[in-house]
Amino acid sequence: MWGGRFAAGPASIMREINASIPFDKRLWKQDIAGSKAHVAMLAKQGIVDGEDAQAITEGLNRIAAEYEADGVPVDLYLEDIHMVTESRLAQLIGPTAGRLHTARSRNDQVATDFRLWVRDAIDEVQAGLIGLQRALLARADENADSVMPGFTHLQSAQPVTLGHHLMAYYEMVRRDRSRFADARARADECPLGAAALAGTSFPIDRHATAAALGFAKPTDNSLDSVSDRDFALDYLMAATQASLHLSRLAEEFIIWASQPFGFVKLPDAYSTGSSIMPQKRNPDAAELVRGHAGRIMGCMTALCVTMKGLPLAYSKDMQDDKPPVFEAHDLLALSIAAMTGMIETVTFRTDRMRGLAESGFATATDLADWLVREGGIPFREAHHITGRAVAAAEAAGVPLDQLPIATLQEIDARIDDRIYAVLTVDASVASRMSHGGTAPMQVRARIAQAREELG
Ligand code: ARG
Repeated sequence: MWGGRFAAGPASIMREINASIPFDKRLWKQDIAGSKAHVAMLAKQGIVDGEDAQAITEGLNRIAAEYEADGVPVDLYLEDIHMVTESRLAQLIGPTAGRLHTARSRNDQVATDFRLWVRDAIDEVQAGLIGLQRALLARADENADSVMPGFTHLQSAQPVTLGHHLMAYYEMVRRDRSRFADARARADECPLGAAALAGTSFPIDRHATAAALGFAKPTDNSLDSVSDRDFALDYLMAATQASLHLSRLAEEFIIWASQPFGFVKLPDAYSTGSSIMPQKRNPDAAELVRGHAGRIMGCMTALCVTMKGLPLAYSKDMQDDKPPVFEAHDLLALSIAAMTGMIETVTFRTDRMRGLAESGFATATDLADWLVREGGIPFREAHHITGRAVAAAEAAGVPLDQLPIATLQEIDARIDDRIYAVLTVDASVASRMSHGGTAPMQVRARIAQAREELG
């Protein structure tokens, strides 16, 4: 009944479940680099003779050129990138190839390859995040005094500037970069030479291989070296947090692009039309960035669950470490690129933002603050007076700064016509001069500082 699936017998199922080559072929550059560092060290230590080491190195160079040109051949019989490369080496240089695996195991080999890969992935993400920061800075600078409603509970709260709002995302990305930098620093130890789990009886020089591969030092415990995947989890956790930030920015764009808001016109390049509703312009790229955050978090969860409860040292479960990291990385790189492109090219409808900022009684707090500052009134009482002014404006259907002075003085005699100077949205944002506040001067100062941080 299951003949179709089992035609070749259980052995083929074993090959299929056992093989990692369909995905770990992505480690080929790191695998070749690790092998070259290893064989150079073996020769220097007199463990393999110089001629053999040279033949192995030349063979590895040739294999690298083949992989570069034609890709890595996927042969399930050979299980993984380590075996595929070693078997090709044997085809090229004969039995000498067998000396490469002296004083190492696939356990320390894969741990080394994967660390090298994650390190490169972090460098790629960092470059992308810097690009995103630059895009945010440029648009924030342009809009350092473009007034928009600031929200709490998605209700108009107080006016802020668009520059300030965009710079909030700059700060998130700055923290993301610091998390990735931390992850990279912790990953900077080389497991190569831990061998299967216990170390090796050969007189290897682990400091030499660590240095050759650009690691700060070798790892200090062989059992930990082959069973540790913290570096992959650190990457995934940093990626998760970065993707959460991207998804919040994406969500704002989705809301802002909706007709009732109309704060942005998304660029054609990042939108799609509808096949039946010609008026539509859908924020698909932003929606996918929002969606990808869920998948990236799923990848992080997947590896946490894989690692949870594994005894020391290596277990084959750990082969499942790579697909979630590869998937999360691809999704994150794409999300960063898409958000950067959107930030660079989106049209901000600053007139519309200003109009809404002026319409929602967003300067009510400014009235209350004025009563405290100029009238010496306790804030709670000022809040109450302001509430009555808002009710009067609402009843009259006008913004706060169009209430006649007589009406305001009926509410509280201590109000005089100096109040109109603080009730405009421009005065409101300009007054928020506290460190980190939305005053254009503060926003510009932070932008200048951020430019220096970025270099
Ligand atoms: N393909 C394996 C992995 O990705 C390599 C390590 C295999 N080690 C072993 N003892 N079977 O984890």
